Amino acid sequence: MKKILITGGAGFIGSHVIRRFVSKYPAYHIYNLDALTYAGNLENIADIEHLPNYTFVKGDITDADFIHQLFEKEQFDGIIHLAAESHVDRSITDPLAFVKTNVIGTMNLLNASRDCWKNDYQDKRFYHISTDEVYGALGDTGLFTETTPYSPNSPYSASKAASDHFVRAYGETYGLPYVITNCSNNYGPNHFPEKLIPLFIHNIIHQKPLPVYGDGNYTRDWLFVIDHAIAIDLVFHEGKNHETYNIGGFNEWKNIDLVRLLCQKMDEKLNRPKGTSEQLITFVKDRPGHDLRYAIDATKMNKELGWKPSVTFEEGLSLTIDWYLTHQEWLTHVTSGAYQQYYQKQYAEK
Ligand code: NAD
Ligand code: DAU
Repeated sequence: MKKILITGGAGFIGSHVIRRFVSKYPAYHIYNLDALTYAGNLENIADIEHLPNYTFVKGDITDADFIHQLFEKEQFDGIIHLAAESHVDRSITDPLAFVKTNVIGTMNLLNASRDCWKNDYQDKRFYHISTDEVYGALGDTGLFTETTPYSPNSPYSASKAASDHFVRAYGETYGLPYVITNCSNNYGPNHFPEKLIPLFIHNIIHQKPLPVYGDGNYTRDWLFVIDHAIAIDLVFHEGKNHETYNIGGFNEWKNIDLVRLLCQKMDEKLNRPKGTSEQLITFVKDRPGHDLRYAIDATKMNKELGWKPSVTFEEGLSLTIDWYLTHQEWLTHVTSGAYQQYYQKQYAEK
């Protein structure tokens, strides 16, 4: 039985990856290593926790000794590394937290893999999950390809870029077998309501203002989270060592257009008169260093691995809204306590 370590499996994307791997691969034993920060929630994976090929390990990737001991004990065959501080706004307030988890945490996993595998890399793989934000901002045209130079603009994207560089350097220097994927904006169930789509769904339900940064003319390329999990499965099994793959939704939206679509759909689902939610739109102070546009060229994923998104944005958004409307208890749990303080601080200054 292969032992696979997935980090950050109690978070948004990680929980979908955990579910897919635990249920699809009974011949793997999946270890979910997560520190359960504000963004980690075991409720996200409650449905698979009882399965015999799953083990949860509570632990912090910034703790080098703990990570080394865990690797010594379990002798993992592969790692899929998702654990990270992931919210750009938080990185502006507290950049060091991002260096600690995203850079030092990744270094600890790299060192432990190298030392544990002792240069015998047969059938081993270190899979690092990264973001399209490392490429910086696009103008009105063009797409990010795998060869676009790195040009991160936020402390979050700088920390992710640094970790990508270390992964690549460990491949060159120590021969570590790695793959990296850089993905665009995900959306879907279990997304923490600090990010645009789940925050706005939450605020529409409670008829609170929808804080659109700047003029709203910023563009993101949205991908349904389950399609990202499918892509991760493919790359883990069929991607080539020492390669990078870009993953995206072929689905660009200006924030303001997306917010208007979301408002329309929410009015329909909540049986509210047309136009009700749009009245909540409030233009607020912009995010510093706000990247104008991200858009991914996912041709390599398509040509080499046969991957493409399986749901349209209409379908994905509808599934997402339905999930939030039927999981309001989940929303209540994650928005109690510390969330309230974060929200007051983040939006009071806008
Ligand atoms: P998330 O914030 O929802 O989840 C992160 C998880 O990591 C949480 O469960 C948290 O408890 C855990 N974690 C944080 N610090 C940790 C630490 N020090 N030790 C152990 N666990 C820790 O993040 P997400 O949106 O699911 O993103 C997952 C990964 O995918 C990240 O690496 C992110 O950079 C990348 N990514 C995200 C998106 C997106 O749109 N969300 C897009 C592209 C790439
Ligand atoms: O591109 C991939 C990245 O997508 C991931 O690496 C990050 O982990 C993930 O958080 C996401 O980053 P963004 O900064 O693009 O996502 P966010 O949901 O924070 O913002 C999306 C857009 O919406 C962005 O242009 C900022 C804007 N926005 C966001 C919030 C939270 C608002 O206008 N108002 C808001 O309140």
